[in-house]
Formats: sequence, C-alpha cells, structure tokens
Amino acid sequence: MNTAIVGLQWGDEGKGKIIDILAEKADYIVRFQGGNNAGHTVVVGDREFVFHLIPSGILHKAKTCVIANGVVIDPESLLSEMEYLDKNGIKLKSNLKISELCHIIMPYHRILDKLRESKRTQRIGTTGRGIGPCYADKISRCGIRAVDLLNPNVFKEKLEDNLKEKNEIFKKVYKHPGFDLDQLYNQYFDYGKRISKYICNTTILLQEVVKKNKSILFEGAQGTFLDIDFGTYPFVTSSNTTAGGICNGSGMPPETINKVVGVVKAYTTRVGEGPFPTEFKDELSDIIREKGREFGATTGRPRRCGWFDAVLVKYATSLSGVREVAMMKLDVLDNLKEISVCVSYKYKGKIFRNFPYDFEVLTGAQPVYKTFKGWCSDLSKIHKFNRLPRNALNYLCALEDLILAKIRIVSVGSARSETIFR
Ligand code: GDP
Ligand code: IMO
Ligand code: MG
Repeated sequence: MNTAIVGLQWGDEGKGKIIDILAEKADYIVRFQGGNNAGHTVVVGDREFVFHLIPSGILHKAKTCVIANGVVIDPESLLSEMEYLDKNGIKLKSNLKISELCHIIMPYHRILDKLRESKRTQRIGTTGRGIGPCYADKISRCGIRAVDLLNPNVFKEKLEDNLKEKNEIFKKVYKHPGFDLDQLYNQYFDYGKRISKYICNTTILLQEVVKKNKSILFEGAQGTFLDIDFGTYPFVTSSNTTAGGICNGSGMPPETINKVVGVVKAYTTRVGEGPFPTEFKDELSDIIREKGREFGATTGRPRRCGWFDAVLVKYATSLSGVREVAMMKLDVLDNLKEISVCVSYKYKGKIFRNFPYDFEVLTGAQPVYKTFKGWCSDLSKIHKFNRLPRNALNYLCALEDLILAKIRIVSVGSARSETIFR
C-alpha cells in the first residue's frame, strides 16, 4: 500500500508530523518535489527536529528515505542538514538515497532569486533559497544534475556554458561581479564527492520496491496553492505540489499511488506575498499566530493567519484525489467563542463557489462566512474522536461536507501522542 501526503493550503499544514507518524507503517519515504524551501517539523518527546531536504521519516531507523528526481538540491544545505542530524545522533548510511537526476541549486541560483525579488514591483516573498532559478534552468535545459557533479568533464563543460551566459547577465543587468569558474567548479566537485555515496538510480530502486510489495510514503512539500500550475500564480513555488507531481517527481507510474491523504490546518496560514481572501484583519491574527506558533520553519518569518477557506480546500481535495484528510492544529482554536469558515466568495455582487483564476477576482474576493460556536476547552488531552466536545464535532462534520473528504486524523498538539485516529 503506497500513500501520498499532500498539503491542501499554502504549506506548513503539519505534513512533517503526519509523515513521521505514517512512516511507522512504510518501508520507504520519498520526497518528490521542492527543495530546502520546505521546513517540516517533527516533535519527539521534548525534542523538535526541522527537516528541509531530508524526508521527515528519517527518525525511523529501519526506513529508507529517498530524495527523488523532482527535488532540487542545494549541496551546502544538504551537508549542513546531515551534520545537524549527526549531531543529534541520527546516522545516515544506506538509509538515504539521492536521485542522480536531482537538479543542483548553485550559488548563482540563490543570488539570482534574491536579486530578482529586489527588482520586482510585486515581490513573491520567496524563501531566497534559489528554488525558482534552479527549476527555471531545469526547464531551460541548462541545469546541472547530481549525476553531472560526479563526472568532472561533464560538470566542467556545463558549468562553463552556464557561467558564460550568466556572468554577462549578472554584470549587465544586476551589477553583480559574477562567478569564477575554477572556484565554483572545485567547491561543487568537492560537494559532489562528499554526497556521492548517497547518489544512485532511485527510479530503478523504487520500481524494485514496488515489485517486492514494500510500501512507499510519498512526502509532499509546500501546499496546493503554491503549485506552479494550480496555485495563486505568480505567488507560488516552482514545482507541482499536488499529487500529479508524484509521478514525474519520482518515476513511479500513477497506479502505484494507492491513496492520497491531504493535510490541512483547522484555519489557514500563508508565508510570503499573494492573495489570501480569509486573512484576519484584526487582533485575531496575533492571537492565532501566538497560540499556533505560526512562524516559518525555514525563514522564521511570521505567518499570515486567517479562517479556514473551504472554497480553496474543496478545490485542493479534487485536484489531488484526496478522500481522507488529517485535520491539524484544532487545539489552536480552543479559546475562540466563534469560528468562521469561508463557504464562497463575493466579488462585484457575484457569488463564486469555486476557486477563481482571475487574479483581480481572487485579490478582491470578499469571503462569505458560515459561523460556528467554539468549544472553549482544552482538546490536547483528548484521544478519541467521539470524546471531542459537541461544538468541535459540529465544526469538523461541517468541514467534511464542505471539502468533500473524510477526516481520518485530528491533531490536537505537536506531539505524536496528541493525535486522534478515527
Ligand atoms: P509542514 O511544513 O507542513 O511540515 O508544517 P511545519 O512543520 O512547517 O509547521 C507546522 C507546525 O505546527 C510545527 O511547528 C508543528 O510542530 C506544529 N503542529 C503540528 N500539528 C500540530 C497540532 O495539532 N497542534 C499544534 N498546536 N501544533 C502542531
Ligand atoms: P513547507 O514544505 C510555506 C512559499 C514562500 C513564497 C513562495 C515561493 O514547509 O510547507 P520559493 O522559495 O519556493 O520560491 O517561494 O512559496 N513557500 C512556502 N510556504 N511552506 C513551505 O514549505 C514553503 N515553501 C515555499 O514563502 O511565498
Ligand atoms: Mg513548513
């Protein structure tokens, strides 16, 4: 049984916690898109781990974690994450595999990411990790892949070609001195050597895994509305975060994905710029940010907060074929007397029940809310679904009807134990 985990909002839904829990039953945990823009938090006892590139299943010693071809890798960030794990007693050996086909984030990608942002009138608010420029090079067919880093001739030729064009652009457009071929070559060839023992053909590896009937957990990063095709473009990331991204991002044919579990927060957050119809406009923003500790796991930026948007989440479940969801952070709403859910948008007198593609409509959309009574009690010690207070059950059942998916997991705290399975 192979399961995929995807985020149904703008990321940070709590995927890390759910991956860590579901990894128990899987043999392989596979990241298929994104890069170190992700920040997935796993809490074990009094320790908190944040993963950026390495799959969140790594804490389970007997499992193999795979960084598949759809992921972009910054070797510096990867090496420092490996060091962080090592310091925390987590040893990496044959339990980590990296696809030869992963594209490599180079320093010129990171710098270009920041320079482009500084030139835009409408900033995206990227994580500044070079994600967009690296994926752009992949599509432009000038990217450097993990397998290229290991071959001195290929790597040098590709790097030379890249710098020839890029140094011109850096100097002329951005007044940046550009990059030295030999220095960059030596540095990155060395990184390649240091990670070479993890690099392999993960496509064949995973196909064998399927043949042997072992189980895979696909770990999505970001969230549906950061998807390059279906998100709030251009305020999105540069990969397909929806379930469709799994096949291209891992080399697994569609029939290998048996189930897609959506991870969604009981309210909404977003980091970075872009439309957010249900964003709080009052002090609730600070109250929820504080109670939910809503600060970015990668950049530390305060996350924007708002009510649950059923228009968005219904669209997200349909895009990824999600029939089961994990409803996260319900405990964050514990003290609220009233809780609202957006059921449609209103724009210039017209009602929109589906996610509008027109940017003007999306940015000007007025949410139409349905309001529910809060439960005003502590949920964190509840372990059974039917023991949840009536008002919490009412809220959850209403959400199920709105998003057309069953709530199978309710999370009421960051710890593994603060999880209700239905
Ligand atoms: P991800 O990017 O989807 O993996 O999510 P992040 O790790 O960036 O952000 C989720 C945050 O919420 C982390 O700090 C988690 O420890 C925390 N968290 C997860 N589930 C719950 C929950 O049910 N309640 C509370 N209060 N915190 C949670
Ligand atoms: P996880 O996996 C939340 C956002 C950035 C920015 C936009 C583009 O932890 O859910 P990028 O650097 O990808 O080009 O930035 O996407 N973003 C995230 N927001 N969680 C994430 O990952 C994110 N990864 C990227 O804030 O708005
Ligand atoms: Mg995160």
